[in-house]
Amino acid sequence: MTQRKGIILAGGSGTRLYPITVSVSKQLLPVYDKPMIYYPLSVLMLAGINEIAVITTPQDQDQFMRALGDGSQWGVSLTYIVQPSPDGLAQAYLLAEDFLAGAPSAMVLGDNIFFGHGLPELLAEADAQETGGTVFGYRVADPERYGVVDFDAEGNARQIIEKPEVPPSNYAVTGLYFLDGDAPDRARKVTPSDRGELEITTLLEGYLHEGMLKVKQMGRGYAWFDTGTHASLLDAGNFVRTLQSRQGLQTGSPDEIAFDQGWIDRAGLEERGKLFAKNDYGAYLLSLLK
Ligand code: G1P
Repeated sequence: MTQRKGIILAGGSGTRLYPITVSVSKQLLPVYDKPMIYYPLSVLMLAGINEIAVITTPQDQDQFMRALGDGSQWGVSLTYIVQPSPDGLAQAYLLAEDFLAGAPSAMVLGDNIFFGHGLPELLAEADAQETGGTVFGYRVADPERYGVVDFDAEGNARQIIEKPEVPPSNYAVTGLYFLDGDAPDRARKVTPSDRGELEITTLLEGYLHEGMLKVKQMGRGYAWFDTGTHASLLDAGNFVRTLQSRQGLQTGSPDEIAFDQGWIDRAGLEERGKLFAKNDYGAYLLSLLK
């Protein structure tokens, strides 16, 4: 199979987090001790993906470049793509078409944070599927804020509905999409919704109706945060802080994952640790060398 490529969609005006995001991109805000985008980036890296496009607004691109560089510090290749106006998530596949060059992809939303013991295995399974796609359903208390899965009597997904007033289930589709190389072609056929956006759910529905989309459950042992509101941003930060201080392990560290994947060597990790030596994150990276 052609090596799967990654997309991080970090566009959007972030108006729901105003006034914080008047001057700073949402996906660069801190989630406890790291910039938000480190977490979705870590998910792609955990999936073994090392060629990644970062899609941003024109005005924020510089700051993302400063935050992440060219990715070589992690043995990753980062490409930056601009989304001139936020016309929907499916547009990302059109913007990234040249970058993907026919390869299958894993797209993650830059504000989605995942945690769970079985995550590498779940990602590997999705990656192994050559045609069609895989998305993940996660139980939430407020499904009306998301794309929601409608299940038939046998428990198979039959529809995905974007922000339904009356949700057919409590299962939201998370912002992590494994799709085959046809995604850009299919995205071209998506017509704008009533709110004027190329909806990711319309693209997914195309796959679903052809029996080509797996909706896998991300069970209760996982944590998924979307940081879409002030409260959920703080919740995500508190979760990371609680977990890390209790376990003495990092979550969402591209540095640690790069080292584990063998994409950087000891010297590379040491350089990163020294860069952050004044805080616990740097000390943690250096401790991995022992
Ligand atoms: C988007 C998608 C939605 C998905 C959600 C996950 O919504 O349209 O289907 O469930 O991301 O975070 P948005 O956050 O853009 O409102």
